[in-house]
Amino acid sequence: MNVICRTALPSDTDAIMRIEEAAFLPGLREEKELYEKRIRAFPEGFLLAEDAETKEIGGYICSELWREDRPVCSETLALGHDPEEAHDYNGTQFYITSFGTLPSWRGRKVGSLLLDTLEKKIAENYPKATLGVLIVSEKWTAARRLYERRGFKEKGRIIDFFTPTGLPAEDAILMMKP
Ligand SMILES: CC(C)(COP(=O)(O)OP(=O)(O)OC[C@H]1O[C@@H](n2cnc3c(N)ncnc32)[C@H](O)[C@@H]1OP(=O)(O)O)[C@@H](O)C(=O)NCCC(=O)NCCS
Repeated sequence: MNVICRTALPSDTDAIMRIEEAAFLPGLREEKELYEKRIRAFPEGFLLAEDAETKEIGGYICSELWREDRPVCSETLALGHDPEEAHDYNGTQFYITSFGTLPSWRGRKVGSLLLDTLEKKIAENYPKATLGVLIVSEKWTAARRLYERRGFKEKGRIIDFFTPTGLPAEDAILMMKP
């Protein structure tokens, strides 16, 4: 399979939602309208992985640039927060808002390709955004490993941040990369 990375378009949101539903438990999924807003707010920071032949979309990663004075705390990190309010092209903090691949695409380095391509684009086009920030559930082993291998380090923990429907709450691990 020949996979390419490209910028997301508003017309891609149905494909993005299929990945979202496969990647996250009920209670942790975000709305289609939010993804549309994310594409509008910062299209350059929203990448898709697409099969070059079939055009199937198998993964996405999206991000925001945050001003230096935006605090990193449970309120600003909340799922569903408004990208138009959060994102600022002059920001110094590069926040990964969501990231997932279809189960049938996993383990083929598509996640690595998306994260590496996004980090490279941010470094090239927004050199002021030098601090990488993200949160990951303590349970998302593959994602934690991927981030750790790329130099993200654990900087804190938000107890019971993620609340999957009908299941015990999960801590969020705050990771940063200088
Ligand atoms: C995280 C995710 C995007 C990775 O996508 P992917 O296409 O499988 O990515 P890759 O093939 O590049 O693999 C990434 C790493 O995860 C590792 N991995 C895969 N499955 C794993 C598992 N069950 N346990 C531990 N590590 C695992 C791979 O070995 C690889 O590590 P390596 O580079 O050190 O070998 C994907 O697993 C996913 O969508 N998970 C559910 C949603 C999620 O957790 N999103 C992150 C939000 S913060």
